[in-house]
Amino acid sequence: MTDKIRIGLVGAGGIAGAHVAGYRRNPEAVVFAAIADPVRENAERRRGDDDVAIYDDYRTMIAEAELDAVDICLPHHLHADAIIAAAEAGLHVLCEKPLCLTLAEAQAISEVAARTGVTIMCAHNQLYFPAVAETKRLLTEGTFGTVYEVRTTDSFYNDFTPESMGWRAHASTAGGGELIDTGYHPVYLLQHLAGAVPTEVTAMLSRHRLGFMEGEDSAQVLVRYENGVVGHVTTSWAYPAAPGTEKFSLVGSEGSLSSDGVSLTYQLRGQDPVTMKFDPVHDIAAAVADFARCLLTGDRPMHTHVEGIDVLGVILAAYESDRTRAFAPVTRVAVPAR
Ligand SMILES: NC(=O)c1ccc[n+]([C@@H]2O[C@H](COP(=O)([O-])OP(=O)(O)OC[C@H]3O[C@@H](n4cnc5c(N)ncnc54)[C@H](O)[C@@H]3O)[C@@H](O)[C@H]2O)c1
Repeated sequence: MTDKIRIGLVGAGGIAGAHVAGYRRNPEAVVFAAIADPVRENAERRRGDDDVAIYDDYRTMIAEAELDAVDICLPHHLHADAIIAAAEAGLHVLCEKPLCLTLAEAQAISEVAARTGVTIMCAHNQLYFPAVAETKRLLTEGTFGTVYEVRTTDSFYNDFTPESMGWRAHASTAGGGELIDTGYHPVYLLQHLAGAVPTEVTAMLSRHRLGFMEGEDSAQVLVRYENGVVGHVTTSWAYPAAPGTEKFSLVGSEGSLSSDGVSLTYQLRGQDPVTMKFDPVHDIAAAVADFARCLLTGDRPMHTHVEGIDVLGVILAAYESDRTRAFAPVTRVAVPAR
């Protein structure tokens, strides 16, 4: 590794634009070296005026482009194979959510990570919201005492049509419905704030409005964590959250906190409330910068495949709970430590 990370983008569709912006905002740490996408015009749009090699096939890019890392922005069902191909070639991986779709894929990813020693970082961009970072800092200092409850929300009115949904309309390519897509954000945020391994889940899934989807358009999920925290996720493409609904909140033995995502207010028992406001950041650029920093320093990313697999475990347990109308345990794969 030199002083910059040579990165290859895999999948040059919608979200790739924010990732490319992330490379361009971090020129001291990242070289945007290559793009792989079978749709040439997508690759050319993302390349812009930069001197970036374009490949139809990411396996050729991995073999030829002399990369340090790949950044995977593919439809969900293609994540696991791309992660494994990159890791087998010794390349580090930044991967969009979800890490993968099944526990068998998760097992294969954790095995290849252990065998090759590459870093696999989940691009969990909402962890880079300043309000989230400050909340995590307060939690780490023990400000709220024993945490009892954490709630996260990510709901909006999605104007998808069957035509515009593409691969997202089908469980075979998306892995499920809204919960494994947008709903992945509030689940990883919940895990970050709960600060422990999830153990059991109960969930109710709905198709309130987007009746053409194979999967759910909305989900309510309750999660119990090993440290006793109970988490509650509300997430939807059918409707926006009601005015005043928090993006995240928590209650502990010493006080509580609520945030709309850009500001936060907390109150400790017997004290006046404290409100903090933050300037917005480009959270995907911050994730890209942190990925490069971790590779250059050897630091562990906040969320590697280990946390990504826990998040997937919660989502798969939510699907099982809704199917069986019962609590579902979060099945863990054997993840060698890293
Ligand atoms: N973090 C966020 O807020 C956020 C937002 C949107 C999407 N995402 C995630 O980003 C990922 C991509 O979503 P999107 O909306 O950009 O999808 P998209 O459909 O817009 O883009 C996917 C791209 O992958 C390309 N592709 C398909 N097969 C390929 C292959 N074998 N090799 C290389 N390229 C291939 C397609 O041609 C397309 O350009 C998903 O995992 C999604 O959940 C994250």
